[in-house]
Amino acid sequence: MTESYYRHHVFFCTNQKEEGKKCCGQFPAVELRDYMKQQVKALKLSGRGAVRVNNAGCMDRCSLAPVLVVYPDAVWYRYENQADIDEIIHEHFQNGTIVTRLRIEK
Ligand code: FES
Repeated sequence: MTESYYRHHVFFCTNQKEEGKKCCGQFPAVELRDYMKQQVKALKLSGRGAVRVNNAGCMDRCSLAPVLVVYPDAVWYRYENQADIDEIIHEHFQNGTIVTRLRIEK
């Protein structure tokens, strides 16, 4: 198997649906995506062989919103605040341990 370009490639859904429909855009998904990007950069974890944070459209897991997914690990998380993002960065990206309390089971 070839090694992936990024060790952890993160996709944040920031999709906004029409009013009343549950979606990641109802939550501070954009702000927390930006926060993760800033933190990853500040900790020098970004780039090839490391972490990349990207925006994504709907990933069809809206009922669990807000969601992000980390590939190639294929680990899905539901997050709520900066502390959750910090924990994913520290535990998953730096220590290689999945944050089970935030993980969405398949
Ligand atoms: S709106 Fe985020 S998964 Fe559908």
